[in-house]
Amino acid sequence: MKEANGPVVRALSDGLSWVDQRLPVVDAWNKHLGQYWAPKNFNIWYYFGSLALLVLVNQLVTGIWLTMHYKTSAAEAFASVEYIMRDVPWGWLVRYMHSTGASLFFVVVYLHMFRGLIYGSYQKPRELIWVFGVVIFLLLMAEAFMGYVLPWGQMSYWGAQVIISLFGAIPFVGEGLAEWIRGDYLVSDATLNRFFALHVVALPLALIALIALHILALHEVGSNNPDGIDIKKKKDENGKPLDGIAFHPYYTVKDLVGVGFFLLLFAFIIFFAPEMGGWFLEHDNFVPANPLVTPEHIKPVWYFTPYYAMLRAIPDKLMGVLVMGGAVMILFAVPWLDRSPVRSIRYRPMLTKVLYAIFAVSFVWLGWLGAQTGSTLQTILARVFTLYYFAFFLLMPWWTTMGETKPVPERVTS
Ligand code: HEM
Repeated sequence: MKEANGPVVRALSDGLSWVDQRLPVVDAWNKHLGQYWAPKNFNIWYYFGSLALLVLVNQLVTGIWLTMHYKTSAAEAFASVEYIMRDVPWGWLVRYMHSTGASLFFVVVYLHMFRGLIYGSYQKPRELIWVFGVVIFLLLMAEAFMGYVLPWGQMSYWGAQVIISLFGAIPFVGEGLAEWIRGDYLVSDATLNRFFALHVVALPLALIALIALHILALHEVGSNNPDGIDIKKKKDENGKPLDGIAFHPYYTVKDLVGVGFFLLLFAFIIFFAPEMGGWFLEHDNFVPANPLVTPEHIKPVWYFTPYYAMLRAIPDKLMGVLVMGGAVMILFAVPWLDRSPVRSIRYRPMLTKVLYAIFAVSFVWLGWLGAQTGSTLQTILARVFTLYYFAFFLLMPWWTTMGETKPVPERVTS
C-alpha cells in the first residue's frame, strides 16, 4: 500500500515525536492552545490581554536594537539618542516604536484592568491572576519610569529628581534610602547606570516571569467571560465545556483581528503624531538634562498623572506619598473587597454601574489634572476625585452587597 504522507511530512512527524518523548510539547500545546476551552462569548474587552503580550514583544525587540546604539553615560546619553534619531538607519522608527509602545502598553493594560473590574474577573477562583496582575502593573510602572530617565533630557532628570526625593519623606530612613537609590547625593551618572541595568535586564526578566505566572494561573482555573458564568459547570460527555471553544484556532484568529486594528493605530501614531502633542514624549525632554536649570513645570508622562494628581492633592509630603502608594496597593485587596454574589456588571444593580462609570470618569479627570499646573480649583477637584477613588475601593464591601442583582443565566449569552 502507498504511504499517504511524503518523506518530508514523515521526517517532521518523527522529529516531533522524538522531541515530544523528551519534552512534552504536544501536551503543552493542547493544554494552552488546542484544547484550552475558552468561553465562546469573549467580546472586544478580551483583546487587551493578547495585545499586552504583543506590546511586550515590541518593547523587548525594539529595546534590544536601541541598546545597540545607546550610550549609558550622563555625558553621552542624550547625544546618543539624537544620533539614533538622525544617523542610525531606521533608528527613528525603532525609537518611536519603543516610545509609542510604552504609552500604548499602559493604554492596553488600563483597559485590561478595567475589563477585570467590570466582569469581576478577580473573584474566586481568579484572585491570584489579579494579584499577579497588580505586581505586573507595579513592575511596569518602575520599568517605564526608569526608561524615561535614559534619554537624559530635562524631564528625565527632573522627573527622577522629584520621584526619588519622595522616598526622602519616609521618617528616619528616607534620606538614606533616596541616596541609596540615586547612588549619589543627586541624580547623576551613577543613577543613570543603575537605571539602565534595571530597565534593560532586571525588570524585563521579572516582568516576563510574572506574565508567565499570570497566564499559568489563568489556564489553571480557566477564563472568566462577559457573563461571569463558570463554563466548567456544564460539560458534554467528553468533559468539554458546552460553552467552551478551543483557543486555537478560534481565538488565535479572533485576536489577530485585534492585532490588525491595533497595528493600524500604532503605525498612525508613529508616523503622524509620535510625540502626541507632548503627552507621549514631553517637549522638555528634547532639551539635554541640566542640573542647574529646573523646568518651569515638572510633570510625569500621562500614565502616571492620575497618581501624581493624588500626590499633589495632599498638602503634606509624607501623606501624599502614602496616598499615592496606597492608591496602587489597594488594588491588591480588590478580590476580597468585592462581596457581590455575581461577577459580571451585566447582572449587577444599577448602583454598581453608576459607581463604576463615576470611577472611570474621575480616574481620567485625575489623569488630566496631574498634567496641569495645579491651580486652586484644580487642587480642589483633585481632592474630590482622590476621595472618590478611595471611597470606591474602601466602601466596596458595603456597596457591592446593596441593591438587587439580576438572575444569572445558566449558559452564556451570545
Ligand atoms: C504586561 C501586562 C499584562 C499582560 C501581558 C497580561 C496578559 C494577559 C492575558 C494574555 C490574559 C488572557 C487573555 C485575556 O483575558 O485578555 C490575561 C488575563 C487576565 N489578566 Fe492580564 N496581563 C497583564 C496585566 C494585567 C494586570 C495589570 C491585571 C490586573 C491588575 C491583569 C488581570 C488579568 C485578569 C483578572 C485576567 C483574567 C481575565 C478573565 O478571565 O476574564 N492583567 N492577562
